[in-house]
Amino acid sequence: MTLEVRDIVMNFGGFRALDGVSLTVPAGGLVGLIGPNGAGKSTLFAIMSGFQTQDAGAVLLDGRPLDALAAPARARAGLVRTFQVPREFRNLTVRQNLLAAAPGQTGENLLGLFFQPGRVAREEAVIARRAEETLRLLKLAPVADQPARQLSGGQKKLLELGRALMLDPRFVLLDEPFAGVNPVLIGEIVARIRELNAAGIGFLIIEHDLEALTRLVPYLAVLDRGRIIAQGGPDAVLTDAAVREAYLGGVA
Ligand SMILES: Nc1ncnc2c1ncn2[C@@H]1O[C@H](COP(=O)(O)OP(=O)(O)OP(=O)(O)O)[C@@H](O)[C@H]1O
Ligand SMILES: [Mg+2]
Repeated sequence: MTLEVRDIVMNFGGFRALDGVSLTVPAGGLVGLIGPNGAGKSTLFAIMSGFQTQDAGAVLLDGRPLDALAAPARARAGLVRTFQVPREFRNLTVRQNLLAAAPGQTGENLLGLFFQPGRVAREEAVIARRAEETLRLLKLAPVADQPARQLSGGQKKLLELGRALMLDPRFVLLDEPFAGVNPVLIGEIVARIRELNAAGIGFLIIEHDLEALTRLVPYLAVLDRGRIIAQGGPDAVLTDAAVREAYLGGVA
């Protein structure tokens, strides 16, 4: 199963945020997506996950176009994103946040509750078990009963990852998983992503912390002003003249 975007164009009014972006993440791949502020990285994620509609180009999962599917259907197909700013339910506990992320359940339909009570109970048991596994995997079990608003920035990023994992994804799009996270917890998040990747989940990761990112990913793609300007191994990419120019141009 591969995840692919082909020739994506996105305009906001007269501004072209994405200008013919093509990129492939192989099955079980681990790819970093970097680039200066405003390059179009989060916009690409929004399009891939079905939160925004591109003006041209296609998003394909295993060669199948996803463009007719809205975000929940893409998640069911195996493609899930996280948000740059975590979107937890502040007043729900960590465990409740995970349970609430689980896909549409038979029991949510009142008829389902009347006619298939056994099935509802089975689904709930599966979801509850997955929530406990996710809490354990992400080491969030100690804070499972705390309201999400009490979590640190790093723990909120972990919860955001956990909410994605509740959907049993084949590919996860992570938008800045290390931003505002202390170095110890960055190490934890890196370790968790490694484990999940070893279990076969593919990742495309937007991140500005290049040191942490290059410790994790064997492959980088660079977006600059709506175009992919380089891709390949981190060493080659980060010494590439166009990439250095894009970053220097950003701070100058
Ligand atoms: N809904 C929108 N309407 C208008 N302009 C937008 C919209 N979303 C994004 N943009 C613009 O598109 C460009 C790309 O934004 P995007 O958020 O994708 O950048 P980014 O690469 O994720 O940046 P950062 O690293 O700062 O998060 C920016 O100039 C941004 O202002
Ligand atoms: Mg962004």
